[in-house]
Amino acid sequence: MEPRKTVLVFDSGLGGLTVYREIVAARPDADFLYVADDAAFPYGAMAERALVARVVELIGGLIDARRPDLVVIACNTASTIALPELRRRFSLPFVGTVPAIKPACASSLTRRVSVLGTEATIAREYTRALIRDFAQSCRVTLVGSKRLAAFAEAELAGTPVADAAILGEIAPCFCDDGERTDTVVLACTHYPLLIERLRRLEPWPVNFLDPAPAIARRVVDLLAPAPLIDRTGSRRAIFTSGRPPAAVLAQFGISAEAVATETPAV
Ligand code: DGL
Repeated sequence: MEPRKTVLVFDSGLGGLTVYREIVAARPDADFLYVADDAAFPYGAMAERALVARVVELIGGLIDARRPDLVVIACNTASTIALPELRRRFSLPFVGTVPAIKPACASSLTRRVSVLGTEATIAREYTRALIRDFAQSCRVTLVGSKRLAAFAEAELAGTPVADAAILGEIAPCFCDDGERTDTVVLACTHYPLLIERLRRLEPWPVNFLDPAPAIARRVVDLLAPAPLIDRTGSRRAIFTSGRPPAAVLAQFGISAEAVATETPAV
């Protein structure tokens, strides 16, 4: 019988749950550990060197303690700066989350694409390189948001955020120079948590591109085939603040009982 697979899904907070849910749907047999470094949220406000050092140390500790088979960095802000160092240090497979600029530009009919991410992701050389390599004939507008990830966390935790505040963050994505933006890349894993609001508030209909399904496909490709026996794996979560939001985790099928309230040393 194939040994059980353990997948570690990592983010600064709740955003990685948008990636987690796709992977769980694709591989329900695997054991999952969701890790949120919420003690350091938001990653978008952290200096690059400090962020790389923190993520490498935290992931290293988790690899030693939990022995995952595969790690998903479900965070654009971390992936676009820390992936090379993680891959250099550790030999297990890493799947990152980076702005989906290539598929967005390949599918845009108006050739007007916007990339909405944290200010850090938008400023990264990694993101600029994706545009140089894959924008083709598209005009790409970069929109860095200071507050949208925190708005997503607040909404999920039951604290409503006003429409005007959300619209203020997404409005610069909608450009009209005779041709209108038709595709907005959601380059932060928190943003799909707000997808219904984004659809309600969009000035005109666009395709909001969520990379989670593509990430789930990549994970399925990397894991050995699922065992033939019908089994559902375990679902656990660690929040570095030591305060896992049990009600939110329950919405994602992670039972409060299964939540570990430990704080990994970082
Ligand atoms: N979820 C993270 C991302 O995909 C960012 C949120 C933060 O700033 O911590 O970029």
